[in-house]
Parts: sequence; structure tokens; C-alpha cells
Amino acid sequence: AHLQGAPLVSPQEDEVPPEAGPGITSTLVLSVFTAVLGSLQCGYNIGVINAPQKIIEQNYNATWLARHNASIELSTLTTLWSLSVAIFSIGGMISSFLVGVVSEWLGRKRAMILNNALAFLGGALMGLAKLGCSYEMMILGRFLIGAFSGLVSGLVPMYVGEISPTRLRGALGTLHQLALVIGILIAQVFGLESLLGGPELWPLLLGLTVAPSALQLVLFPFCPESPRYLYIIRNKESKAKESLKRLTGCSDVSEALTEMKEEKRRMDMERKVSIAQLFRCRIYRQPLLIAVVLQLSQQLSGINAIFYYSTSIFESAGLEQPVFATIGAGAINAAFTVVSLFLVERAGRRTLHLVGLAGMMVCAVVMTVALVYLDRVPAMSYISMVAIFGFVAFFEIGPGPIPWFIVAELFSQGPRPAAMAVAGGCNWTSNFIVGMAFQSMADACGPYVFLIFAALLLGFFLFTYFKVPETRGRTFDQIAAAFRRTPSLLDHEVKPSTELDCLGQEDNA
Ligand code: GLC
Repeated sequence: AHLQGAPLVSPQEDEVPPEAGPGITSTLVLSVFTAVLGSLQCGYNIGVINAPQKIIEQNYNATWLARHNASIELSTLTTLWSLSVAIFSIGGMISSFLVGVVSEWLGRKRAMILNNALAFLGGALMGLAKLGCSYEMMILGRFLIGAFSGLVSGLVPMYVGEISPTRLRGALGTLHQLALVIGILIAQVFGLESLLGGPELWPLLLGLTVAPSALQLVLFPFCPESPRYLYIIRNKESKAKESLKRLTGCSDVSEALTEMKEEKRRMDMERKVSIAQLFRCRIYRQPLLIAVVLQLSQQLSGINAIFYYSTSIFESAGLEQPVFATIGAGAINAAFTVVSLFLVERAGRRTLHLVGLAGMMVCAVVMTVALVYLDRVPAMSYISMVAIFGFVAFFEIGPGPIPWFIVAELFSQGPRPAAMAVAGGCNWTSNFIVGMAFQSMADACGPYVFLIFAALLLGFFLFTYFKVPETRGRTFDQIAAAFRRTPSLLDHEVKPSTELDCLGQEDNA
């Protein structure tokens, strides 16, 4: 039986009843809050570069003038600016591949603590770039904060997924995205020229990113390490128990421990899984395919075309105050992430992802029609604005939050870090591609540019409909077990694989 969107196991058989299991404790709240401060920073740096573009460009020009005694050429300025924007995703791309190694070596919590060094360094370089009369400092700072964000986008969902009780894993997993979108919104508002986006204060706007890092360093000592890491990876049963007790508030944690023991028993058979083995082993092929395509569906939906270029899109749609429309999009983005947070444990991941993709596709088509008829029907500028708002809203219902945390759900402890690394790398790479390519795509296709995204969205919708299973309410072990029982999606004839197949392949390699 292949998964075809059906639940992994029948609900009666295995689903955790909503009222069962441990609830929310203050330690759990504190730990999730502290972790997602990193996500907030990641979002802040996605959004911060949009509004003050002109002013920072003037500063680059002044620096060039002082060094070369001549004004900067427009093409050089464009290159320097594009580099300042895009190097952020290059940093993310590179560091996200290190998530697996770093999280195993240092542990989830210590990795997040030490990652702040990148944020302090990056924030300081960007904040002092004006004083130092150096666009190199700015570019290097953006690279480092991108590297910080790449690690965040793996470490935070992994830690949150591992410390959450099963029935709250989706809702708490959504908080990474919620903090991220709040970060984008804060950056959009602070970036207004009348606030911190002006010629004097923009260094402060960029340097402010160190504030959440400082808060995180104060709070992390009060948060426990992931019990799954302690027990399954480090074999420290009593420490894991201690952590579980603090997170659940229960003195009897035997049930959670039994579940982890089962996962550990399997993992000991699996051995540690490297990125290369992840690709080689047949049992991981299906969850890996799903994880990668879900990341692509998030980025190739075109969402960051809106977040990087919204102001100019709204301008070409004929709006008089494009900056405020951008902030409107940011606010809707945050509001609908909250909607998803409340729906994800009820409606399930798969349904919300499907609704989100379909809604985005419709909005992309409406947006195109509105932009095409803009010259003839003036009201179209408002229709296009509403379509963009709808596009963003549907994104946050599913494609925004779900891909980030579902990867942690699709893999057991052994392959999880490697899978997070691959998924994160695909996400940041496609993010970079959209960021770099959108402007020239828009120049070439004019108002029809969003039809490309509509076509991609249709493809992702079909994939999700046929291939993505529901993971709500299942323990990590149940999810992994269902994939183990299931032959590869690509090759229905192959015999169901076992862990031993994988070891055999490794030994022969
Ligand atoms: C997701 C994406 C990110 C995007 C954001 C918008 O987190 O990964 O690239 O900018 O959503 O809300």
C-alpha cells in the first residue's frame, strides 16, 4: 500500500487522543520562546533590506566618491546592492548544510547558543559599516547573518519538534514561522524613513539584530537540552529524564521514555546516517523526496518575489503609497500564520498545505489579470493589491510554516539531522534563485510573470495531493515505521526495504 495522501496509520489504531498526554508547561513555553528568538532575527534580516535601499545606496556612492574621487557607475552600484541582498541567502545556503554536523556535535541547545557569535559579528559589521566607510563590511555582515539564519532554520525546528509533546508538535512547530514573520513585520515598520530607515539611523536599524541574540543568551541557561538528543544520541538516560520532567511537568515520564527507547533501538540498528547515505538508502527515498519538494513548494511559490520586491510591484500596480501596502502585506502575513497555528492540529498538515497552494494559485492568476487590465480599468490596481494580500495569506496557511517543521516529523532520530540539512539547503538555494532571477523574469514577462508561479503551484498541488501523507497526531516512531513498511513511491515493484539493506549498502560502499 502506498501512501497516496492517506493517513500513515489508521486513526483508531494509533492516533493520540487530543486530551491525552502532557500539556504546556512554563519550561516548554520558555524553551520554545527562547529558541524562536533566532527565527525572529532571521525574519528581521529578510525584511530589513527592502525599505532603506535608496539611502544605503547613497551611502555606498559617498564611500565610492571618497575613495575614487568619482561617482559610482549605476551598474557597479546595482551589482554592489544585489550582492548585499543576495549574499544573505548564500550564507544561509552554506550553513544550512552544516546543521546536521553541528547539532550532533554540540547538541541542539549549545549549537543555538554558539550560533549567536555569527549574529553578533554580522550585526556589528553591518551596524558599523557607515562609520567604517565600507560597503565590504556591510556585505560581509549580511553574509554572516545569512549563515546565522541558515543554522537557525534547521536548529530551531529540530529543537522545537524534539521537545514538544506529539499532540502540540505542529502548533509549536508553526511558532518558528510565526516569529520569523513577526521579524519581517518589525523590520518593515522600523525601516520606515521616519523611524530608523533614515540617513542617520540606518546603521542602528541593521545593528539592532544583536538585541534578540543578547536576550537569547540570557534565557537559554534556563532551558533544558532536547531529551531526544540526550538519550538517543548521547545515551544519557538520567539527563534525558530530567529534561523530560522539566518539559512535561510530570514526575512519571516513562511513556515518553519508552517511545524514545524504541526509536533508539531502531536507530542503533540504522547507525548514524550521513547525507550521502540518506540519498543511497531506499527507505529514505520517499520521505526525502517529500521533504525536498515541500521546501521547493515553499520557495518556488514566488513568496519572496513579494517580500523582496513588493514595494516596486505595488508601485507598478499604480498604488500611491507602496510602502504602506508592503507593511500591509507583512501584517497579513503575520495574521495568517496565527490562523495556521490554530488550524494545524485540527485540519492537519496535508489539508492546510493543499488549501494554501490552491489559494495562492488562484490569487496569482487574479493578480495577472488585474495587472494586464490595469491600463484600461483603474480599479484593477486595488484588485491586484487584494490578490497579493490573498497570495500572502494563503502562503501562511500552509506553504509558509509546514515545510519547516514537517521534515523533522518525516525522519527518525538517525537520519533527521542529515535530512534537515538537505531540506534547508534546498530551501535556501531556491530562495537565492528566486531572489536573483525575479527581476529579470519580470522584465521579460511583464504582467504575466506570476503565471510562471501559478504553473509551479499547480505542480506542487498535484504532488502534495498524491504523495504527501498526514503526520498529525503520530509519534516520530510511528511515522518512520510507516515509511519503513512502504516501498519507494518511485518504484512500486521493489521489495519493502529494511534497515539492514541500508547497512549492507553502506558496508559495500
Ligand atoms: C518562509 C520562507 C521565507 C519567507 C517567509 C515569508 O519562512 O522560508 O523565505 O521569506 O516565509 O513569510
